[in-house]
Amino acid sequence: MTEILKFNTKWNDSDRTILLYVMEDKPIGSAIIDINPRDKDEGMFWNLQVDKEFRHMGTATRLLEEATKVASEKGCIMLCLEWNPKDSGGWVLDWYKRKGFAIQDSGRCGIVRMIMKLPSRKGAKK
Ligand SMILES: CC(C)(COP(=O)(O)OP(=O)(O)OC[C@H]1O[C@@H](n2cnc3c(N)ncnc32)[C@H](O)[C@@H]1OP(=O)(O)O)[C@@H](O)C(=O)NCCC(=O)NCCS
Repeated sequence: MTEILKFNTKWNDSDRTILLYVMEDKPIGSAIIDINPRDKDEGMFWNLQVDKEFRHMGTATRLLEEATKVASEKGCIMLCLEWNPKDSGGWVLDWYKRKGFAIQDSGRCGIVRMIMKLPSRKGAKK
């Protein structure tokens, strides 16, 4: 059985959600969504990772889908991320593009900031 567990916490002033992808009680992947306290329209997607032996099974795809849901439910209208060439292959950047992220800007050390518009949700918390 697989499930995504959600933990709500705070990091500095951000409203943080930690997603933990669990397979047969074993955590195999995770991701973080932070809501910017100064701009609640914007969610930040961080630290996506899947254990090596469990890759290529759609785990990251499910974590990203859940992250967009969480951010929308919290009232965000966009989700941002940073892709760092030191941590991830170019194919990850291409995958984010396929999932709907567009490049917003490229900064120092090749770090790329990406942004995706989220569908607005009725009854979302602000
Ligand atoms: C990036 C990462 C999270 C992907 O996890 P995953 O569970 O294997 O990903 P999925 O199985 O959901 O596949 C996602 C997509 O990437 C593609 N993909 C997966 N591994 C790939 C590889 N090594 N090379 C090329 N494409 C790959 C899949 O085909 C899929 O594409 P699709 O949506 O068009 O079908 C995982 O490789 C990882 O933890 N990497 C190290 C940390 C990292 O780079 N995190 C990203 C930070 S920005």
